[in-house]
Amino acid sequence: MRGLVFSVTLLLVGAATAGEPDMKTIMATSVNPGALAFWAGGNDPPEDETPAQAEARWAAAVKGAQTLQAEGRRLAAAPYTRTGRWNDDARLMVETGAEGEAAARARDAEKAFEIGGRLYDACNGCHKTYVPRRE
Ligand code: HEC
Repeated sequence: MRGLVFSVTLLLVGAATAGEPDMKTIMATSVNPGALAFWAGGNDPPEDETPAQAEARWAAAVKGAQTLQAEGRRLAAAPYTRTGRWNDDARLMVETGAEGEAAARARDAEKAFEIGGRLYDACNGCHKTYVPRRE
């Protein structure tokens, strides 16, 4: 009997996670690359950057900012939402992502840098509270 209950539990956990990526996957494969691409818009351009490379860097920054908005919305909703400051940090990611998208479209590096700082507050705020090991 005990074995049966255990397998049923495993099945349920498997079903619950089958369609939904876990936090680690979302962070490593979507949020982190999206943020790096957006931050690259506000950073100094690489030396000898060609106009085509600049074009690609800004296009990636726009896309990254869009990813941050989508992921912020996802994290603020079930099954990811949590109590405490979680949703505020997720929403800050949506807001700075939206502002960041506009700045990246305008290729405004100074603005992108300023917004990038506030975006970092969202990452850091959430990690500080929910991922103490990464402080
Ligand atoms: C609303 C909460 C929240 C926000 C906002 C958030 N994170 Fe995370 N992040 C987490 C949690 C929770 C983990 C731990 C996941 C795990 O290991 O289970 C994590 C883990 C990570 C990791 C480690 C992934 C790995 O491979 O172990 C990276 C990198 C990361 N976050 C980057 C970012 C960046 C960059 C931002 C901001 C642009 C950000 N996160 C915003 C909650 C958040």
